[in-house]
Amino acid sequence: MGELLRRFWLPAMLPDELPEADSAPVRLRLLGEDLIAFRDTNGRIGVVTEQCAHRGASLFFGRNEECGLRCVYHGWKYDLTGQCVDMPNEPAESNFKEKIRLTAYPAQEYGGLIWVYMGPAEHVAQLPQLEWALLPDSHRSVSKWIQETNYMQGYEGDIDSSHSSFLHSLLKPAEAEDDGKTISALQKSIDKSPRIIVRTTDYGFFYGAQRAVGNGTFNWRITQSLLPTFSLIPFIAYPANARVWVPIDDGRTMTFNVSFNAEAPLTEKDREWRRQGRAFPPEILPGTFTPKRNASNDYLLDRELQRTASYTGIFGVNDQDRAIQESMAPIYDRRREHLGTADGAVIAARRNLLKLAKDLEQGIEPWLATHPEAYRVRSMDVNTTLADLDVVVNEHRLALQLDGAPTH
Ligand code: FES
Ligand SMILES: [Fe+2]
Repeated sequence: MGELLRRFWLPAMLPDELPEADSAPVRLRLLGEDLIAFRDTNGRIGVVTEQCAHRGASLFFGRNEECGLRCVYHGWKYDLTGQCVDMPNEPAESNFKEKIRLTAYPAQEYGGLIWVYMGPAEHVAQLPQLEWALLPDSHRSVSKWIQETNYMQGYEGDIDSSHSSFLHSLLKPAEAEDDGKTISALQKSIDKSPRIIVRTTDYGFFYGAQRAVGNGTFNWRITQSLLPTFSLIPFIAYPANARVWVPIDDGRTMTFNVSFNAEAPLTEKDREWRRQGRAFPPEILPGTFTPKRNASNDYLLDRELQRTASYTGIFGVNDQDRAIQESMAPIYDRRREHLGTADGAVIAARRNLLKLAKDLEQGIEPWLATHPEAYRVRSMDVNTTLADLDVVVNEHRLALQLDGAPTH
């Protein structure tokens, strides 16, 4: 699966982790590799292996100067392609440095994130044309935090509609403060066993979660699942949320959440709401990517709150998700699961990824990695009397496909 993930550009950092030219180098662990990221004198981003090629000192301690990162042990210096460009402890006439190159990966800023491509040079992927990535910075708020599980355990929560009727519910939904931006808790509580209908596409799949909401009306939540681990979450009103789950290693994940408004800049109120940690992102310990509510403090579970107001007694929506997903262990043994009809989208996501990984073993490259335009789709939350997903999708085709919508 790691080989497959390496065929795609992966978000790895927020741009302000490398705030300016020649700023401090930063440790980055990605797909189980220890790397160092730095921004060189020209503002370009380099991502190289952490250990110096000489005798293995960590380049985290390096000096970032004059278009390269210099190891502080004996002064060897590398440019952003990993090429050794200076070897001051060897005779000046030596050409030894020309033979020394660190593993380095291409990196670039796009859509408010720093992306890294770790695959073979002969197959360089193209950056996905996700709607949120194509918007101006003003229309988007990007955040990152660490989850102590395998990436799939987190991603599976994004495409698991039925859990929201329980994990994220309130005991007295009628009293819920309705911000108009998430499906109302009331609506979710009416029908707790949504029908899940999956439709495979060239970018992965979408699914409709159908809930009866009374008077012959259905609520349809159409979620987009884009390979390898992108999601577009249904929304009633902007800002919408999108996520991507990127493996640090087998047992830890970087979660990126993008809140965006495709039609207007985010307001200060939008941004302030996001800082409160009520949903995505969670509250983060200052100076880290570690959520304040984490396993070491039982996610600040409040049993009194659980008795009187909220299903879990845990504060934020992501805090609730993360508590439960981390409680399974970093990689849950899937042989012990018992999947039901509510898990159709989870099954589809696993099947798609496994198919692509097996194809790659046979030498079949993932089509999507070089078809970035396939990502130009949207999610949707709609109430309608239509009972058939294909009819709903047909009715809303222009709203679900970006190319049918106004451009910016
Ligand atoms: S270990 Fe880096 S220069 Fe010697
Ligand atoms: Fe959730």
